[in-house]
Amino acid sequence: MFKYLNPKKYINFFKQYPRLQNLLKLNNKTTRLMLMNYYFNLVKKNKNLKNFFLDGSNEINQINFKIEELYNENNLLFKSLAHNGIVIVENVLSFEEKQKVLNFFSEIEKKNISSDWIDKSIIDSSSIKYKDSNKVKISCMKKNIKYLPSLSRLNDYVTKKIFGKKINTVAEFFLHECIDTETPDSYEDTKFHIDRYLPCLKIIYTPNKINEASAPFGFIKKTHKLNNEFMRNFTLNSKKFFIDDEHLTLDLKNNEVSTICPENSLIISFTNGFHKRNIFLEKNVRKMIFFQFTNNFNFFSLLNYKKYN
Ligand SMILES: [Fe+2]
Repeated sequence: MFKYLNPKKYINFFKQYPRLQNLLKLNNKTTRLMLMNYYFNLVKKNKNLKNFFLDGSNEINQINFKIEELYNENNLLFKSLAHNGIVIVENVLSFEEKQKVLNFFSEIEKKNISSDWIDKSIIDSSSIKYKDSNKVKISCMKKNIKYLPSLSRLNDYVTKKIFGKKINTVAEFFLHECIDTETPDSYEDTKFHIDRYLPCLKIIYTPNKINEASAPFGFIKKTHKLNNEFMRNFTLNSKKFFIDDEHLTLDLKNNEVSTICPENSLIISFTNGFHKRNIFLEKNVRKMIFFQFTNNFNFFSLLNYKKYN
């Protein structure tokens, strides 16, 4: 009896950052729209989120920056992020720290775990995500961010700018090994999709160079804005969280970017906008650390906007 009345279970459910999958369960469109507007109004009350996800701004074409520009007083990097929903920051870590990251990755690659990880076993994400298909093998391990002090400081700085307060997270090491070259329709995450329909930040660090063939992260600029007409309609009417290429408008296609970047780069992107993993064009290995924030910035954080202003 007490198991079912367990208040913690309900608190955890409500605390969760809303997903499109749950919105889609509401059959009535008016109810969907009311719920969307309720959440959007909460976002509007957080003045930092309002700047990045609602306010309009002047056209900024530059999306590639150097690490020093992150701290520039002119704020051009963050203005570009607010306008486009994505920036690439180059030359992020010192040689030694980048090397340390590569060593962590080779533990996973060689299945020889020696340093401290949150869970000692390697998660086979591809068997969960791609079921019986075996063109790409994804291995994942999580590490306490304290072992990556520079990236931790960067996360603190960037999240404070975006959410109004620094948000903690863990470092998720993802190793993508391409066993057989892919075709465009391989998987759902290689089609443009949204992670959430509310402000969602993903920070990705890549120690290695990413070229066209090594599955670069793809993004459609400006689709992170909550008042973007196309995205509002997509959220309201779509039956799924991804979109087939033939349903993309010319304007959306013109705003598509592939984040081809030099080694030692950071991709800061808003994944409530359309994004995907481009397919592997050759047998290759992609090593990336992902930082996500939906656990620690959740529905209660939206309600608690005063604490963030
Ligand atoms: Fe995604």
